[in-house]
Amino acid sequence: MGADMLRKHVIGNWKMNGSATMLAEVLGGLRVPSYDCDVTICVPYPYLAQASTLLEGSACQLGGQNVCRYDDGAFTGEVSAKMLREFGCALVIIGHSERRLHFAEDDACVAEKFDRALADGLYPVVCVGETLAERDAGGAEEKISKQLAWLRGRIVAGCRVEQFCVAYEPVWAIGTGRTASAEQVEAMHRWIRDCLGVPVLVLYGGSVKASNAAELMAIPGVDGVLVGGASLDAEAFTGICRAASN
Ligand code: 13P
Repeated sequence: MGADMLRKHVIGNWKMNGSATMLAEVLGGLRVPSYDCDVTICVPYPYLAQASTLLEGSACQLGGQNVCRYDDGAFTGEVSAKMLREFGCALVIIGHSERRLHFAEDDACVAEKFDRALADGLYPVVCVGETLAERDAGGAEEKISKQLAWLRGRIVAGCRVEQFCVAYEPVWAIGTGRTASAEQVEAMHRWIRDCLGVPVLVLYGGSVKASNAAELMAIPGVDGVLVGGASLDAEAFTGICRAASN
């Protein structure tokens, strides 16, 4: 990822959903090689080994939904970047709003995870997004620039734009069936690039479906999509990949 600004990226985030049976059904039903886009699926940790077997010969890559900020050692319950690499993950989602909300991850923690991921050869997908209250109060841009402050520092320190991407996921659009408007998405993607001062890839996430994917990916500045619920269904996810290929 990262090199080709024209090729869209579709990342599926299963979150804490699915089963071994469902994995076989959904991944078995994916027909990725025929699409002209980059596709990654982020399944729960226990399914990574099975997923990498199921995806053998497929162009669909594997990703992690989270990673430990530490290298290795006595961190019960955590999974390291090296382990994700060992199980074939190419990228890792960090800073997802659900991790920030339910697991108290702050920007300092997200920054440490970013460093760990890069050090171990993973491509971090850095999630940012405002709540509805923040948007309604006119503070969406300010929230996003705060979430990106550490990343700007990394870029100033020499981190290259092709080493990572950003996913704009307005919290109010996640799992709600409500997507941001084309104007809101275009403006925020531009704001993200302005904040970072580099032409970073920016994906959109929040209630992306097969029916709205083409429209979302036609918005200037949208380099792809981060998909939750619709990635649990082979037909829906395939439809999104098809939309990304047009
Ligand atoms: P939904 O597509 O289910 O709204 O989830 C978006 C998301 O959080 C992806 O990371």
